[in-house]
Amino acid sequence: MAAPATSNRHFECDVVVIGGCGHVGLPLAIAFADRGAQVVIYDVSEPAVESVNAGRLPFDEPGAAPLFERAVASGRLRASADPAVVGLAEHVIVVIGTPVDEHLNPNQTAIPRALSACTPYLRNGQLLVLRSTVFPGVTALVEKMIAALGVQIEVAFCPERIAEGKAMTELFELPQIVSARSPEGLERASALFGRLTDSIVALTPEEAELAKLFTNVWRYIKFAAANQFYMMANDRGLDFERIRKGLTTDYPRAADMPGAGFAAGPCLFKDTMQLAAFNNNNFTLGHTAMTINEGLPLYLVHRLEQRFDLSSMTVGILGMAFKGGSDDIRSSLSYKLKRVLEFKADTVLCADPYVTVDDSLLPQDEVIAKSDLLTIAAPHPEYRGPGFDKLLLDKPVADIWNVLGRGVRV
Ligand SMILES: NC(=O)c1ccc[n+]([C@@H]2O[C@H](COP(=O)([O-])OP(=O)(O)OC[C@H]3O[C@@H](n4cnc5c(N)ncnc54)[C@H](O)[C@@H]3O)[C@@H](O)[C@H]2O)c1
Repeated sequence: MAAPATSNRHFECDVVVIGGCGHVGLPLAIAFADRGAQVVIYDVSEPAVESVNAGRLPFDEPGAAPLFERAVASGRLRASADPAVVGLAEHVIVVIGTPVDEHLNPNQTAIPRALSACTPYLRNGQLLVLRSTVFPGVTALVEKMIAALGVQIEVAFCPERIAEGKAMTELFELPQIVSARSPEGLERASALFGRLTDSIVALTPEEAELAKLFTNVWRYIKFAAANQFYMMANDRGLDFERIRKGLTTDYPRAADMPGAGFAAGPCLFKDTMQLAAFNNNNFTLGHTAMTINEGLPLYLVHRLEQRFDLSSMTVGILGMAFKGGSDDIRSSLSYKLKRVLEFKADTVLCADPYVTVDDSLLPQDEVIAKSDLLTIAAPHPEYRGPGFDKLLLDKPVADIWNVLGRGVRV
């Protein structure tokens, strides 16, 4: 069993999470608080801090609400926009966003810059854990930065590997990769994450940085392979889903072949670009995966154009989140699909049962009623089953996710 948390007597709190109001930081903060730790969040987003302190989750994460409400009500979890709280905790975990810029360049200084606002509050005896997905070498850079400050702080890199929507189970179930330069740092990081899981995997910081990037890029490349197969089959009038079902049936070596679909969101694409930049942009496989996955909305519209006179049609997009069952629209390819369709179709209307941050979305019934053609762009569970199928009123539907179970031919 994972050990219960106990406060170190030199510190008021066990854990501070820098960037702890985000999609990764908040579930982590909740998980530690649920295991009895005293947790404080430092986040620059004042609205998100306010929301957490008021006991409102700033975004939807399945299974988080009861644990979150309990943690806030018991006083084990609170948030602040004041970096001084960084000095309160024995363990300082950094999980700010690490996006690539508009030219696909990683920002190697994002974490050091975020930390520099906190340096006046760093204290001897703390363990600094980098949890964001970082450009390889950032851990060493932070180690140097800490050494230059002259404080006795161990640095660890312990990457987050949860998938959004599964955080509250995966945080307790996935093996935790931990890495640190010194045996003491490694021991302390292992003890910290031992509060969440019994399965700890130790690597060096350089191995762990690549392990995290390889994990995401591997997934992105697998999705690209499936999407390429989909386009090949579709161009020949064949249904990729029938082929995939056929080849995976009782054939374990191909069981992990994904279906077609938009490979989007805030991680896979940008981490593939981070790895490419790390390898001096010499990453043909990663760049090809990017052109395939990012090209899928364009391919879809191109195929629809061949079948329909889009210029005279209203096209409805159902599902604007980047994945099924999520309210997160970051780097969603549904929006790329929307942009391309807006150029080609007479009118484009969009709906999503989860997304609350886009005022242009219309009620689903209205989108269905007004559209001549529908596309399902996110595989929300609500779209599955005969009840939803009936709502579509026999209108033509492009369904690359096969949520309707009628195949994926477009
Ligand atoms: N989203 C995922 O599913 C996922 C999974 C595994 C790993 N990751 C990695 O985790 C990291 C965080 O991703 P996310 O999706 O949670 O991002 P996010 O944008 O949802 O959250 C980041 C949080 O950090 C805060 N922040 C930004 N700059 C700050 C600063 N200087 N000081 C304090 N707070 C600051 C933001 O206000 C925000 O609340 C990224 O490196 C990402 O690659 C994400």
